[in-house]
Amino acid sequence: MSVRIDGKELAAKLRADIREEAEQYARQHGKQVGLAVVLVGEDPASQVYVRNKIKACEETGIRSYSYHLPAETRQEQLEELLDGLVADKNVHGILVQLPLPKHLDAERALKHIPSEKDVDGFCAENVGNLAMGRAALVACTPHGVMKMLEAYGIDPRGKRAVVLGRSNIVGKPMAMLLLNADATVTVCHSKTKDLAKVCAEADILVVAIGRAKFVTADMVKEGAVVIDVGMDRDENGKLCGDVDYEAVKEKAAYITPVPGGVGPMTITMLLYNTVLAAKRG
Ligand code: GUN
Repeated sequence: MSVRIDGKELAAKLRADIREEAEQYARQHGKQVGLAVVLVGEDPASQVYVRNKIKACEETGIRSYSYHLPAETRQEQLEELLDGLVADKNVHGILVQLPLPKHLDAERALKHIPSEKDVDGFCAENVGNLAMGRAALVACTPHGVMKMLEAYGIDPRGKRAVVLGRSNIVGKPMAMLLLNADATVTVCHSKTKDLAKVCAEADILVVAIGRAKFVTADMVKEGAVVIDVGMDRDENGKLCGDVDYEAVKEKAAYITPVPGGVGPMTITMLLYNTVLAAKRG
């Protein structure tokens, strides 16, 4: 049997602290911390994520500036909006919800956001700072995973950590954070040979590949810490993660559920980064 890492509970605790900091900022500066959220198009999942981010801002005393642009928005229009938000002193953080519609160049658009307002931690400067072990605005999902490990007294130092997935948003920054915390890190992906064997060597296994229940009990070492970043649907259309939770929980020492695990932490770290960006001025 394993300990269930409760992301919802931890997120609520952290959000109470973030709210206090946001209120203190507002008292000191005579204005609220501000986050601009830009959504282009009608992707249903993105609409849910954006709604949840805006709601979380309201609950934390952060003012949100929401922009919902039509799917046919041109690159120049999006970049013009971003340039305006960059110049706006009330906006401390800017988030462009991804993915953008196919005709838009996300990388080019995101280059308009300076590192100080890049609360997603996606830009080259923030990624570079993270790689060099410097304080930076860190990508929210992997940052949230580190907070979970810390809250449950799990020290990565000297541990064998395996990250399944190599995306710029989760896998790569996750690997860097674990490395910065003195773990021995392996990153696995679709071309990895003997994937199951590598996973089974992990003391800490972080899974972010977007495939429902991909990680089965035979891929997990007895007593491992298993962190599931997946948000998938099972054969019955029910929300599930990348890990076969019911089977793996019998083998792991710690495991995150889906929903209620990593998900609530991602938005919490976005709020955290926004307050940090405001305080840095
Ligand atoms: N799409 C999926 N995850 C994310 C995220 O963390 N930030 C943004 N901006 N878009 C996303």
